[in-house]
Amino acid sequence: MSLSEELYQIENDARRVLNGVSNKETLEEFRLEFLSRQGALSLFLRGLKDASLEDKRTVGKRANDLRANLENDFATKERELSGKNKKKIDVTIPGSRPAQGHLHPLTIVRRDIEDLFMSMGFEIADTPEVEEPKYNFDMVNIPLDHPARDLMDTFWLNDGRLLRTHTSAGQARVMTNRKPPFRILIPGRVFRHEATDASHETTFYQYEGLFVDDKVSLVEFKGIISEILPKLLKKDVKIRMRPSYFPFVEPGVEIDVSCFFCKTGCSVCKQSGWLEVMGAGMVHPNVLRNVNIDPKKYRGFAFGGSIDRLAMLRFGIKDIRLFWSGEPHFLKQF
Ligand code: DAH
Repeated sequence: MSLSEELYQIENDARRVLNGVSNKETLEEFRLEFLSRQGALSLFLRGLKDASLEDKRTVGKRANDLRANLENDFATKERELSGKNKKKIDVTIPGSRPAQGHLHPLTIVRRDIEDLFMSMGFEIADTPEVEEPKYNFDMVNIPLDHPARDLMDTFWLNDGRLLRTHTSAGQARVMTNRKPPFRILIPGRVFRHEATDASHETTFYQYEGLFVDDKVSLVEFKGIISEILPKLLKKDVKIRMRPSYFPFVEPGVEIDVSCFFCKTGCSVCKQSGWLEVMGAGMVHPNVLRNVNIDPKKYRGFAFGGSIDRLAMLRFGIKDIRLFWSGEPHFLKQF
């Protein structure tokens, strides 16, 4: 047996004997057998004086480490047996629960949006937050003189790119090189260069939806959101469509849900009884042409809105700035 193997043997024996120690007598037997001056380890170390230089260095070091470890274990065992380590445990004291994290309210609502639209055959797409003006504006039919391009509204980067101001910027990216029919949902973070207040943030989340096929119309759209919005808001809301204008759709509409904070008018619905939740419309023929889809053969609807707004309505949050506050009192409620 080599010296190294011999040392393994001693270690194994020592650990086995130590494991079996159950009282002071057997602990003393362990000490005599392995740690005393006549014990196995001392004899082994003494025997090393005739060993090669290499063995002295490597095996010698291991033997010394083992001795230190075993002495440590011996001391622990000794303390255990003398009862000094014993704590009285009161099993009737209620346990303390570890603090558990949870999802951010925006994450809860974003995931619900994704799940609901996926259940209706939409696929989820991710497009860049740092975007080219071409995608954020031109491809979605926003003309050069549109006020949204203004320095006041858009965060421009030095290299001519920008932080997308809406998830509609992803429309052309997901439609290029696709053949209809398709249904796509783009959730994501958007940025606006504007003053913040209780309902405006420089950074918030939106979702953008596209449904392109040969015969699709706003009737299907209304069917889809009539199913989804009550589930998202967790309220039995009525839905109405109102004509509106967005450059990338024609006709354009705005979707309202019946106010569930009041019966006769309140500050949330601005006394109207209705809450605006999203914009939508039939995809503008120019947008389809921009991605090489023939508007004579295909049409589709697009829709989009703020996830923050939906979360505020669902949870009754009065100030959008709370989402980024990291304020524990706020976050603990969800
Ligand atoms: N991009 C619009 C916004 O940021 C939201 C929107 C409105 C998206 C109408 C659409 C739409 O796809 O058809 O306010």
